[in-house]
Amino acid sequence: MVRMNSRWVVWAVVFVLASTLLCSCGSMNPLASAKADKTPTDIDVKNFGKTPEGEQVRLYTLTNAHGLKAQVMTYGAIVTSLEVPDKKGQLGDIVLGYDNLQDYIKETPYFGAIVGRYGNRIGKGKFTLDGVTYTLATNNDENHLHGGVKGFDKVVWDDQPVWRPDGVGVTLSYLSRDGEEGYPGNLKVTVTYILTNNDELRIEYQATTDKATPVNITHHGYFNFTGAERDILGHELMLNADRFTPVDAGLIPTGELRPVAGTPMDFTKATAIGARIENDYEQIQFGGGYDHNWVLNKDGKDMTLAAVVYERTSGRVMKVYTAEPGIQFYAGNFLDGTLTGKEGKVYKRRYGFCLETQHFPDSPNKPDFPSTILRPGQKYETTTIYRFSTR
Ligand code: GLA
Repeated sequence: MVRMNSRWVVWAVVFVLASTLLCSCGSMNPLASAKADKTPTDIDVKNFGKTPEGEQVRLYTLTNAHGLKAQVMTYGAIVTSLEVPDKKGQLGDIVLGYDNLQDYIKETPYFGAIVGRYGNRIGKGKFTLDGVTYTLATNNDENHLHGGVKGFDKVVWDDQPVWRPDGVGVTLSYLSRDGEEGYPGNLKVTVTYILTNNDELRIEYQATTDKATPVNITHHGYFNFTGAERDILGHELMLNADRFTPVDAGLIPTGELRPVAGTPMDFTKATAIGARIENDYEQIQFGGGYDHNWVLNKDGKDMTLAAVVYERTSGRVMKVYTAEPGIQFYAGNFLDGTLTGKEGKVYKRRYGFCLETQHFPDSPNKPDFPSTILRPGQKYETTTIYRFSTR
């Protein structure tokens, strides 16, 4: 009898301990608590059509804990939509793009794409590396732009969903073969998009090569915080840059690093994009508006705040962080109303702006610029964060 009772007590203690442990584990488990809170963190994948070559393209819909949504497709590693709240909490899509694959294949000025192997221009499509002169595809008059005729924005990437404690995402991978668009070396590239629960679109880039090659990969999203209701000239921009790289008439840097002070290129204090865009300044005329690389102020190699954009009517704010030395600010000067995007919206001149974190344009021909050469055994690794909030 006594023996029976003590055994019962032992089982009771074990039961109580076990259930306490299970409960506390449950509340520590992010998935369990996500379910309990009904937070919508989610990854959805669906087919998004086929390329003319018959390759299947998939569309990922990422949803973070606050309901922000990013859609990414495997063609061009393109962010096709990005829904963030305005100051009233209303979600709205703040990037330009199309609602179907065929329109992207037909014509796009790099809407939402990953551009590479070399984002931005290489003068005359030529550079010399270790004594060998390479000739790249020229697709911008006599220059090479954004990786050439068929850059990273026009290929289908392999895909893998990513679940992280701080968000959800997708890793896209692509093997750029030796000789592709004229570049040396097989380059293995991965780009991971994470929509974090801090309301950031985080982009992690990695690459390795088997021959020395220039690499400069970036994201070519066109933002408009009004949801393309009007142009972007009223958006206020701050660029954390005291200098920029002036260009010639073909938009190739001259090699100079020029102070922005006293010029319309000075965005060190938040200023409306449209305030000086028509000023009589040679550099602005060359770009038809802003289409230049700014030299970021930074101490050391760590991520720095590169840019802040604020749009008054929506209250939306975007902060851009990068470890790259430069940022291309493009004011959508070449949009001309001939492209109709999502929801039938016509994209007129300056209806979107791009902030492309990067090494400086034409670095392979500018020995004084930070090097863009990746060698076998080295790893190309860089991260860009676009963080959203309201004010
Ligand atoms: C980049 C270039 C621009 C233009 C756009 C796409 O931002 O710097 O000159 O080519 O891409 O139209």
